[in-house]
Amino acid sequence: MPDERWSSVTQRRLPRPSELKEILRPKPIVLNPTDRRLAAAHTIADLRTIARKRTPRAAFDYTDGAAELEDSLRRARQAYRRVEFQPNVLRGVSDVDTSREILGTRSALPFAFAPTGFTRMMQTEGERAVARVAQRNTMPMALSTMGTTSIEDLAAAAPDARKWFQLYVWRDHGAGEDLMNRAWESGYDTLLLTVDTPVAGQRLRDVRNGLTIPPALTLKTFADGAMHPAWWFNLLTTEPLNFASLNHFGGTVADLLDKLFDPTLNFDDLDWVRQTWPGKLVIKGVQNVDDARDVVKHGADAVLLSNHGGRQLDRAPTPIELLPATLDEIQDSAEVWVDTGILSGGDIVAALARGANAVLIGRAFLYGLMAGGERGVQRCVDILRTEMIRTMQLLGVRRVDDLRPTHATLR
Ligand SMILES: Cc1cc2nc3c(=O)[nH]c(=O)nc-3n(C[C@H](O)[C@H](O)[C@H](O)COP(=O)(O)O)c2cc1C
Repeated sequence: MPDERWSSVTQRRLPRPSELKEILRPKPIVLNPTDRRLAAAHTIADLRTIARKRTPRAAFDYTDGAAELEDSLRRARQAYRRVEFQPNVLRGVSDVDTSREILGTRSALPFAFAPTGFTRMMQTEGERAVARVAQRNTMPMALSTMGTTSIEDLAAAAPDARKWFQLYVWRDHGAGEDLMNRAWESGYDTLLLTVDTPVAGQRLRDVRNGLTIPPALTLKTFADGAMHPAWWFNLLTTEPLNFASLNHFGGTVADLLDKLFDPTLNFDDLDWVRQTWPGKLVIKGVQNVDDARDVVKHGADAVLLSNHGGRQLDRAPTPIELLPATLDEIQDSAEVWVDTGILSGGDIVAALARGANAVLIGRAFLYGLMAGGERGVQRCVDILRTEMIRTMQLLGVRRVDDLRPTHATLR
C-alpha cells in the first residue's frame, strides 16, 4: 500500500515546443582547432595542462621547472594563496579601470610580459607572438638577451608595442654596448638589467632530461616526435633556434651561455650601464632592502623584486613579502615592481594592493604560448584581465590606482 505521507507533490505535463526551443541552445561550432582548444581554458592552470600535452617534456620542463628543490617558486606561489582580501561593499564598481602608469607611460594593463630566453623553443611563434599580443593590448613586453628573435626583428613584428630590453652584462662591455645601442635605436624605451645570475642556477629537471639547447635529435627525442609531431615539425621547418640578437658574436650556444653569466659583475658594471643606456633603467632580481636602496643610489628608475621565477637561488626570499620594507625605503625615489609566482588576476591585484607599481608575468604567458601560440598568449591576457576585473569589483575598488595595502593582508 503506498505511503500517503510521501505521495508526490509534483504534477507532470508534456513540454511545449516553444519551451523546448528556449532551452535547446547548441554550442556554436568553433572551426579553428586552436581556438577550440583554448576555449576550454578558464584559468592559467588550464593553459598549463594544454601546454603540457602539446610540448615535448624537456621543453615543457625547462619552462615549468625551477632550481634545485623548487622551493623559491613554491613559496612565492604559496604566498599569493596566503593573501586575504578585505572587500568594501556598495562602492559602485560597474566600470573598472585596469590602466596603470609604468615609468611615465600609461599602460592599459598593470602587468607586463617578463623577458624569457629561448621562447621559440616553447612554441615556434615565440617572441613575435608575445610582442604582437602586447601591442594589441597596450601593455609592455621585455625581450631577453637570450631571446630567439633579434632586437630588430621583434621591433618590426610589433612596431607600436612598448618594448623593453633585458640585458645580461658580461666582461666584454663592447658586446653589451652594442646590444644597448641596437635596442635604443630600435625603439626600446627601458632596459632591465638582470643581476641575480652571477652563475646559472641548478635546474635539476633540465639536467635529468638531458636538455640541450637547441634540442638534439637523439633516439629518445625521436620517440618524442611521435607524441608531439606539430612541435617537431615547427622546429625543423622554421629558422633554427639560436640567440638571435647575439648571432654575430660567434661561438657556439654553449660558449655564449658560458659568457652570459659573469661572476665578476659588481656595482662598477651597473654604473657603466647607467652611463651607457639613455632610457629608463630597471634592476631585475633585487632581493633585499639594502640592495634596493643601493641600486637606486646608482641610478635605477625602478627595482624589480624577483627571484627569477625560482630559477636561480633556491630558498630565496619571497618577492611579495619584501614589498612593504622596500617601499618604505625607496618609493619616493624609484618604482618598485614585483614578479615570481603570479598565476592569476587575483595574484596581480594582491601585488598591486600591497604597493607594487607594476607586475611581471613569466610562466603564465609561456603556458599560453605553448598551448596555442599567439592566440594562447592572448587567451592568457584575457583570463588575467577578467580575473583582475572580477576581483576588483568584489573588492569594491574601481581603479587599479585606488588599490591599497588594506585591501590585501598576508596571513
Ligand atoms: C623559461 C624562462 C626563461 C627565462 N629567461 C629569462 C631571461 O632570459 N632573462 C631574465 O632576466 N629572466 C628570465 N626568466 C625569468 C623571468 O623574467 C621572470 O623573472 C620569472 O619568469 C617570473 O616568475 P613566473 O614565471 O613565476 O611569473 C625566465 C623565466 C622562465 C620561466
